[in-house]
Amino acid sequence: MMKIAPSILSADFANLARDIQTVEAGGADLLHVDVMDGHFVPNLTFGPSMVAAIRPVTSLPLDVHMMVDDPEQWIPQFAQAGADTLLVHVEATPHIHRAMQLIHQNGVKAGVVVNPGTPLTMIEPILSLVDQVLIMTVNPGFGGQAFLPDMADKVAQLAAMRSEADLDFAIEVDGGITDQTLPIVFDAGADIFVAGSYIYNADDPAAQIDTLKAIEHD
Ligand code: DX5
Ligand code: ZN
Repeated sequence: MMKIAPSILSADFANLARDIQTVEAGGADLLHVDVMDGHFVPNLTFGPSMVAAIRPVTSLPLDVHMMVDDPEQWIPQFAQAGADTLLVHVEATPHIHRAMQLIHQNGVKAGVVVNPGTPLTMIEPILSLVDQVLIMTVNPGFGGQAFLPDMADKVAQLAAMRSEADLDFAIEVDGGITDQTLPIVFDAGADIFVAGSYIYNADDPAAQIDTLKAIEHD
């Protein structure tokens, strides 16, 4: 089953509870929360206190994308704040294996993220340890960027590795996902689709979610 994860990066921060409830009522499966520290990526958003503030206004699982240096430092606080999945970039730590262990020790699901310029060989040794792998389909930092078509091959390669190793982690994609690009990565084997601007920069976010979900049955 395909899952749609709206990214609140493109929501109206001054009306965040309203914008979260709109996508929840509209059939979203997860809520994607983009944490940026101004170092790992050239943009700044929010931290654990935002996750804690969001937690009581939705029953959607919170998919927390940590675009931060020294991610281990923040894992306990994000878990405490109510994250359901913590996603750490393999590029952000020399100890990705330990980071995945630490996330599990904090009682939440562990995901690893790979940037467009990072090969899958970087995460191969930890695939048996993860619940989710996020393949970036743009360079992280900003909403509204163009989907990188070359990343479809990476998704297909990861899906093949998953079946060969008989593993069951979910494959997530993030960046430039629209009704035009989702079919490409859906066919390649992705399960979870993050979409920010496509959903929120529209008059009717719920209709956008419907359009994406309908692709599964095309
Ligand atoms: C980018 C973020 C994305 C972003 C996607 O660094 O990780 O989650 O919100 O935005 P769109 O869907 O507009 O590309
Ligand atoms: Zn993201």
